[in-house]
Amino acid sequence: MAAPRHFLQFNDFSREEFEYLFARARRIKAQFKSYQQYWPLVDRTLVMIFEKASTRTRLSFEAGMQQLGGSAIYLNTRDSQLGRGEPVEDAAQVISRMSDIVMIRTFEQDIIERFAANSRVPVINGLTNEYHPCQILADIFTYVEMRGSIEGRTVAWIGDSNNVCNTWLQAAEVFDFNVNVSTPPGYEVEAERAGLYGTNHYREFADPMAAARDADLVTTDVWTSMGFEAENEERLRDFEDWQVDAEMMRVAKPDALFMHCLPAHRGEEVAAEVIDGPQSAVWDEAENRLHAQKALLEYLVLGRVTT
Ligand code: CP
Ligand code: NVA
Repeated sequence: MAAPRHFLQFNDFSREEFEYLFARARRIKAQFKSYQQYWPLVDRTLVMIFEKASTRTRLSFEAGMQQLGGSAIYLNTRDSQLGRGEPVEDAAQVISRMSDIVMIRTFEQDIIERFAANSRVPVINGLTNEYHPCQILADIFTYVEMRGSIEGRTVAWIGDSNNVCNTWLQAAEVFDFNVNVSTPPGYEVEAERAGLYGTNHYREFADPMAAARDADLVTTDVWTSMGFEAENEERLRDFEDWQVDAEMMRVAKPDALFMHCLPAHRGEEVAAEVIDGPQSAVWDEAENRLHAQKALLEYLVLGRVTT
C-alpha cells in the first residue's frame, strides 16, 4: 500500500499543488453557491479529533464533508480513550482502518506527526501549537479572490509569533511574498520551530507601525493561544502596544486588507473599528475555510479530478 499524502504543515504542498487546490475551491464554491449537488465522497468517512476547542474548524470540516456526500465523526479527548492515555500510534492504527481521512487538532506537532506515521489514510492538521495550515490555505485563497496574486506582496504580522504566524512564514516561502513581523520582546519568531527553509522571506520590526507601513495585508491573532492560558495576564501587559488599530491601518497601503483567523478579542489584538470596518476580510476568510477545505478533502481522498 502506497504511503498516504498528509497536510501536516503548509510546506508539505508545493505552490503548484496550492494553485490546483485554489482552482478546485473556486469551482466547488461556485457549485455550492448555485445549489448544485456535488457528491464525490459518497461512502467516505472523515474522523475529526479535537484536543482543543473549535467553532470554525469543526463546522467547516463537518459541513464540508457532508456537502461532498460523505460523513464526519467527531471525537474529543474527554470522551475517547485518547484522553485516558491510549498511545497515539495505537489510536492511529485503529482509526485509520475505519475511515478514509483524519483531521486532528492537538497540542505539540510531534503528536500529529506520530499519528500520521502510523496512519493508513491522509491526515490533516486542524491546528497544533506550531502550525495552522488550513487557516492559511483559506486566507491566501481569500487574498487571491479579493486582490489577485500574493506573489511579491507584503503581509504585516502584528502580535504573537504563534501557530498562525509560523504558517504565514512558511506560506511566504512557498508563494514568494514578504512578511513584516512585529512581536513584543521575548516573543520573536523561532525560525526552526516555524519550519522555515531560511529563504529570507520575513523581516522583524521592533515597532509594529514600521511593520505595517505600506503593507498589502495586515493580520494578527489572539495574544494568548489555546494551551498558553497560564500566561494570559503577563501577555495582556506585554502585548499592550501590539493592537491593530485605525492608525496602524492608515500607514498600510490604502487598499490593504485586514485578516484575523478568529476568534477575535476586540480591544486587545484588534480595535473594533478595524475588524468591523471596510478593510476587514474576516467573514470571507472564515467562509472560505469551508470551500478551501472541501478542495483539500477531495484532493487527499481522490487525487486530482477533472470534473
Ligand atoms: N480559526 C479557527 O481555526 O477557528 P476555530 O478555533 O473556531 O476552529
Ligand atoms: N493562535 C490561536 C488560533 C485559534 C484558531 C490558538 O492557537 O489558539
